[in-house]
Amino acid sequence: MQRLGPDRAVKNEWLWKGMELLGIEVFNIGGNDIEELQALGVELSKNGRFVSANLLSGQTGDPLLDPYVIKTMPPAPSAPAVRVGFIGFAVSKHSSKTGASYRWENPSESAEKWLPELREKCDYVIALACMPLGDAIQLAIDHKGIDMILNGFEHQSAMAPIKISRSTIVYAEDEAKSLGELRFSLKSGRPAVQPLNHRLTRRVADDPDIAAFMVKAKADISARQTEMAKSTAHAHDHGHDHGHGHSHGSRRDHADSDFVTSQTCGTCHADAFQVWESSGHAHAIDILIRERKEFDTQCVICHVTGSGQPGGFEDLYRTAHLANVQCEACHGQGREHSRQPTVSRMEPLGPNSCVTCHNPSNSPEFEFVSYWEAIKH
Ligand code: HEC
Ligand code: HEC
Ligand code: HEC
Ligand code: HEC
Repeated sequence: MQRLGPDRAVKNEWLWKGMELLGIEVFNIGGNDIEELQALGVELSKNGRFVSANLLSGQTGDPLLDPYVIKTMPPAPSAPAVRVGFIGFAVSKHSSKTGASYRWENPSESAEKWLPELREKCDYVIALACMPLGDAIQLAIDHKGIDMILNGFEHQSAMAPIKISRSTIVYAEDEAKSLGELRFSLKSGRPAVQPLNHRLTRRVADDPDIAAFMVKAKADISARQTEMAKSTAHAHDHGHDHGHGHSHGSRRDHADSDFVTSQTCGTCHADAFQVWESSGHAHAIDILIRERKEFDTQCVICHVTGSGQPGGFEDLYRTAHLANVQCEACHGQGREHSRQPTVSRMEPLGPNSCVTCHNPSNSPEFEFVSYWEAIKH
């Protein structure tokens, strides 16, 4: 369901500032990062911070960045220091264009080139990876020199660590909902590592500096996202209704959309409408408004109706009538059925109709029976 709008650039700006503030020392470059970092004016070079073993110069075929870096863990008083090697891998969905300034090599081939020497130089090897789980598993099967694969890939769901031959695969959760920790100890001279996942609920106190930074970031992101949506709606109006004078976002004739809204469904399904109206679904946009995220394209997708579908929700200026999780967010577009209810039937739904939105990271407690009980109609 991932859909990223132009507001991504605004968030990237703050994301990068935030990572600088946190003092992150090693970055693996993912398949989509290059253009986005360049757009931010961040120079991609061998600087001891960016790692990638399989991002190659299009001209020379040499690695564009450091294939790996080694960090020394501060030793405990009685123990020797532990040298931890970080090597980077990514899988890019976009096949490299000919003549491009860079290209992605198959991670397994790059691992072949760099792992043996890295293994020599350190005690523990962590592969920072940005790839589908299947590719990470393949990497672990093909190469015995990796102790841990720390993988993060798009909006993959949270998962418990898994062990594939020598490697432990840990998924680094996105959206800063969790803090991952690797706890090192020495077991008969060899590092033993325990991955921990701390869920950042409201009960975890914020760091004051980060909290102050977040207040500034949120206000600026929200203001610029709103501005962006406003000007898109404005351009849209001017492109479509010549000479109709000034008009407001959602006054557009909705006849070109097959979404008819809950209001229409409610004219015949009064009982279902009543149940829905008093449920959280009917107010799902309010919590985003409260958090000033109502123009965040990454958030709205699950708090509205028909996001990403033709005639579905675009933004609050253009399609305010499709805000909230309305009947058609679950049942699908209902124009035909509303015209001829006995001829054009709605598709039956099952438990799977919920999990596109109630996924483990946004609805960790979801379980169909009790959730359905709360909204059944
Ligand atoms: C994949 C779908 C999805 C996305 C994307 C999503 N949400 Fe939600 N959100 C949900 C669902 C489902 C619930 C209800 C969870 C429950 O009650 O189990 C929810 C509940 C919430 C709540 C109320 C519960 C709470 O955690 O306090 C807030 C606030 C919220 N979302 C904000 C956001 C913000 C901000 C974003 C963007 C960063 C976002 N959501 C993106 C699906 C999503
Ligand atoms: C959160 C998802 C969701 C929303 C929102 C929702 N429904 Fe449903 N609805 C379901 C599910 C699931 C069922 C039960 C499975 C089925 O019969 O398709 C159902 C059942 C129904 C049924 C009975 C179907 C039958 O065969 O008896 C009707 C009618 C209906 N919904 C209408 C509505 C109307 C009208 C709205 C809006 C006012 C609405 N629903 C909102 C998920 C939803
Ligand atoms: C003009 C009245 C009318 C409107 C508007 C209407 N429905 Fe219906 N709906 C019906 C009738 C009548 C049935 C029962 C059909 C039958 O059993 O022959 C029905 C049946 C259903 C069913 C059960 C499955 C099926 O198709 O038989 C669902 C689900 C449903 N409606 C959802 C909706 C949703 C969602 C909307 C809005 C998008 C909507 N309806 C709008 C009259 C309407
Ligand atoms: C289009 C995305 C979406 C779909 C599909 C969806 N939900 Fe939700 N659901 C949400 C969001 C967003 C919230 C949080 C809204 C709020 O509480 O403000 C939520 C909240 C809830 C809640 C808690 C609020 C309440 O009214 O009690 C229940 C229960 C729930 N959903 C059940 C379901 C069930 C059952 C299904 C499948 C039949 C389903 N949802 C499908 C997005 C969705």
